[in-house]
Amino acid sequence: MGKFLILSLLLMIISGCVQTGESNSNSIFIDCGSTSNETVDGRKWIGDLSSEGNFSVGNLGANINASTATLNGDSVFEPLYKTARLFTNSLNYTFKGVWGNHFVRLHFCPFPFENLNVNESSFSVSANGLRLVSELNVPNEIAYKNLEFQRSGINSSWFSLIKEFIIVVNSEAFVLEFSPSGGSFGFINAIEIVPLVDELFAGSINKVGGNAVSLNVSERGSETMYRLNVGGPEIKPAQDSNGWRMWEVDSSYMITADAGFEIHNSSNITYASMNDSIVAPLPVYETARTMSETEVLEKRFNMSWKFEVHPGFEYLIRLHFCELLYEKARQRVFKIYINNRTAFENFDVFDRAGGINKAYHVDFLEPISSKINTLWIQLGPDTAAGAAGTDALLNGLEIFKLSQNGNLAYIDRFNALEESMGNSKSLTLWIGVGAGLASVVFLAVITILIIYFCRFRREDFTKKSCSRWRAGSSRGATVSNTYARGSLGGGQSVFGSMPTIRVGKWFTLAEILAATDKFDEALLIGVGGFGKVYRGEIDDGTLVAIKRANPQSQQGLTEFETEIEMLSKLRHRHLVSMIGFCDEQKEMILVYEYMGNGTLRSHLFGSDLPPLTWKQRLEVCIGAARGLHYLHTGAERGIIHRDVKTTNILLDENFVAKMSDFGLSKTGPALDHTHVSTAVKGSFGYLDPEYFRRQQLSEKSDVYSFGVVLLEVVCARAVINPTLPKDQINLAEWAMKWQRKKLLHTIIDPRLNDKYCPESLKTFGEIAEKCLADEGKIRPTMGEVLWHLEYALQLHDAWIRTNEAESSCRVESEGAQADEQIGESSNLKASTPTDHLC
Ligand SMILES: *[C@@H]1O[C@H](CO)[C@@H](O)[C@H](O)[C@H]1NC(C)=O
Ligand SMILES: *[C@@H]1O[C@H](CO)[C@@H](O)[C@H](O)[C@H]1NC(C)=O
Ligand SMILES: *[C@@H]1O[C@H](CO)[C@@H](O)[C@H](O)[C@H]1NC(C)=O
Ligand SMILES: *[C@@H]1O[C@H](CO)[C@@H](O)[C@H](O)[C@H]1NC(C)=O
Ligand SMILES: *[C@@H]1O[C@H](CO)[C@@H](O)[C@H](O)[C@H]1NC(C)=O
Ligand SMILES: *[C@@H]1O[C@H](CO)[C@@H](O)[C@H](O)[C@H]1NC(C)=O
Ligand SMILES: *[C@@H]1O[C@H](CO)[C@@H](O)[C@H](O)[C@H]1NC(C)=O
Ligand SMILES: *[C@@H]1O[C@H](CO)[C@@H](O)[C@H](O)[C@H]1NC(C)=O
Ligand SMILES: *[C@@H]1O[C@H](CO)[C@@H](O)[C@H](O)[C@H]1NC(C)=O
Ligand SMILES: *[C@@H]1O[C@H](CO)[C@@H](O)[C@H](O)[C@H]1NC(C)=O
Ligand SMILES: *[C@@H]1O[C@H](CO)[C@@H](O)[C@H](O)[C@H]1NC(C)=O
Ligand SMILES: *[C@@H]1O[C@H](CO)[C@@H](O)[C@H](O)[C@H]1NC(C)=O
Repeated sequence: MGKFLILSLLLMIISGCVQTGESNSNSIFIDCGSTSNETVDGRKWIGDLSSEGNFSVGNLGANINASTATLNGDSVFEPLYKTARLFTNSLNYTFKGVWGNHFVRLHFCPFPFENLNVNESSFSVSANGLRLVSELNVPNEIAYKNLEFQRSGINSSWFSLIKEFIIVVNSEAFVLEFSPSGGSFGFINAIEIVPLVDELFAGSINKVGGNAVSLNVSERGSETMYRLNVGGPEIKPAQDSNGWRMWEVDSSYMITADAGFEIHNSSNITYASMNDSIVAPLPVYETARTMSETEVLEKRFNMSWKFEVHPGFEYLIRLHFCELLYEKARQRVFKIYINNRTAFENFDVFDRAGGINKAYHVDFLEPISSKINTLWIQLGPDTAAGAAGTDALLNGLEIFKLSQNGNLAYIDRFNALEESMGNSKSLTLWIGVGAGLASVVFLAVITILIIYFCRFRREDFTKKSCSRWRAGSSRGATVSNTYARGSLGGGQSVFGSMPTIRVGKWFTLAEILAATDKFDEALLIGVGGFGKVYRGEIDDGTLVAIKRANPQSQQGLTEFETEIEMLSKLRHRHLVSMIGFCDEQKEMILVYEYMGNGTLRSHLFGSDLPPLTWKQRLEVCIGAARGLHYLHTGAERGIIHRDVKTTNILLDENFVAKMSDFGLSKTGPALDHTHVSTAVKGSFGYLDPEYFRRQQLSEKSDVYSFGVVLLEVVCARAVINPTLPKDQINLAEWAMKWQRKKLLHTIIDPRLNDKYCPESLKTFGEIAEKCLADEGKIRPTMGEVLWHLEYALQLHDAWIRTNEAESSCRVESEGAQADEQIGESSNLKASTPTDHLC
């Protein structure tokens, strides 16, 4: 019996090999217009002029040597794009002995060619009578795609077009017919015909808002519109052994791009169903996007993706899932919406896939009316389902357009392009919004990504530089609420010139347990990726914040020690200071000074705390600016904070502002070089667009984020608020619109009640505007920002003095205190908003 099992297993393996082998040898790859065979992207491409294979080209047309010298992207297919076949009359590629389901891919790369202007080309393609495209104008199509990308803040330079179709062949000959539109011409650079070993689609599919319908999807023929590896890197054709498919990055399709955050775990993922291996390669399931951290943001929003589609067709939407985190059901239960309708309620990946790390997919059918051209896919928590958390998850996404009466072609792109060209002036940087809601990045996630990165890039970087990079950047981009951290590998040189002021106290675990009442959850004041933060009281009665690393946290012991060393050296009135640490029994605990008034953000909005006065706001900003200025200039080579935001500005009992969570790393070639744009992110909404574009970090990135903080202080709203109308979602963008019109006061926090000096606000708005300059070079230094803020405070103080005489009578008559008289040590808790009325 046992032997039989092994034997059948062996047989299965062998037949599996044979199958893939077969599928590769049955694939046909053609380099059009070429006389020679070439190996590109790990496959052999046959020149269509050398063909003695199973295909023939009737009426050859002209083979041309396309000049691809102007290509500015780096496509693996570039060698194929050096030649093309040009046709002014209809041209047939006829294949023999091709049966069953196939991916058919057509590669087009526009080229400059003698007397012909490729901008004027226009042609159609059919496959055994199924019309694939009509009046295709390749340069337009590419320009359109680039525009779409730019709109989401991505500097993209697509230069070629690859169209993919899924077609079933049930006759002896398979004919691809290319025909120029009247009087025009067409061209083709390469053709791929890749058989599918299994059926890709099931016979019956859920219709959105209806029942399952029986559809012969394969029979009908379809076009792949989008194929995304959600929350992960691009997957290249060579990495998808089952079909040479390309999986794009998803963030540029998100409405608030990256409004969710990437998680990753590549251990031991298997397909939920045996015959699913054709559906998608495993790397698709290894990465996912989830909603941002529970404790920090109220998750009353959806993760949303928006796609442009052709009106009047039916679409098959395939969603790929794999639970990577939770080991039981009912942890993440969410709803799936397609074009604003509920496609699925109560969706629990763990439950449906049958466990953690199970690759699973569902399909939906959505007919798009002839009046709309967008497809929205949204995932949001199903609050009615009573799950443990509010969260959603998506690993991959595909959208296929199904043919309608033997037709897949849609002609309207040119008009669409014209329209969007008209709008192109308003293409602003969507980076901030782009960056979306993930206002927090988990240390664990970062570390996983970094480790992943280190592992896969080992050839490129020495182990040393990699681990050093890890030591440096694993900290700064992460979150913590009430504790500060700093340091980096090789930190000596950075801090070398600064005297050691004090090394933190070493606490025993017993002391920590006593201080926190054995980590009593009632004393919990914050939770971050690193771990939990408790309020505690040490021997002498001093209140402290105690940060306890999550045992699962990847942070290594050496890094922990370096952190302690560096933190105890960084001392400044406007930086949260460390008191001590405890590293007993595998625990990693840091003890910080307690900040009685919590985060700046909590005093701006989203809580019942009384509003800060304009003077207090200015003072808080000045304090934070001092702290940053010290970080930038105090140490020999400067430290970039990299996560400046209102939750990292803490206020002590006297409302003195202190930067926390600081001390990331210096700029260095290793850092620039190893930066992964999609992996490491700061806090969205605060992120410097230049850093986003170039991945070059400088102090000016902090200045940008600080500019956003200034706006948040004026407007008292979240930097990203997806519940607002589109033009208001991103605070930086919206407020800058008003600031440029010199109308910032119209959107000021109404709770300030006109109790501010208009001149002071004007100065304040101008600094914020300068901080948000697109180019880092133009932005002021923190020193300059500080100077201007102090000036704004002086203006305000003078204004108060002149107004005092007039207003004091009224104030007295109301028995209230003019808030500006309270000064720095005002006890806000005693004053209510009405006290501020004057
Ligand atoms: C190219 O490959 C085809 C099919 O394998 C073969 O028949 C042909 O001889 C090759 N041509 C050249 C120039 O190598
Ligand atoms: C293209 O280049 C090849 C070799 O570089 C040459 O043999 C061929 O004649 C050229 N074809 C045209 C149309 O210029
Ligand atoms: C191409 O094939 C189609 C369909 O098989 C046929 O109708 C047409 O005449 C062919 N065209 C040429 C130029 O051979
Ligand atoms: C051509 O097709 C026949 C079946 O029709 C197949 O046996 C043969 O291997 C094919 N040749 C190539 C080079 O693909
Ligand atoms: C084709 O159009 C693009 C953009 O509209 C333009 O930049 C390019 O110069 C045009 N090419 C030719 C050969 O006219
Ligand atoms: C896009 O990137 C290219 C090269 O990477 C650069 O030359 C070009 O100026 C960039 N465009 C924009 C708008 O940033
Ligand atoms: C996949 O396997 C299931 C049984 O596990 C079978 O019912 C189904 O037909 C298979 N699907 C395909 C496309 O082969
Ligand atoms: C799908 O189409 C094939 C070929 O036309 C046919 O044999 C099969 O019965 C169809 N299946 C369904 C469910 O209609
Ligand atoms: C990845 O998943 C495996 C299996 O579920 C789990 O044991 C491991 O801890 C996970 N790794 C990370 C870094 O979360
Ligand atoms: C991988 O998964 C299989 C089945 O789910 C399990 O038996 C095996 O122990 C797992 N391996 C690891 C390293 O987690
Ligand atoms: C879905 O709702 C959004 C606004 O909530 C709207 O902009 C969009 O057009 C709607 N989409 C469809 C297909 O109705
Ligand atoms: C999520 O999207 C759906 C469909 O557009 C909408 O009905 C729902 O209100 C959204 N949820 C939130 C919290 O915005």
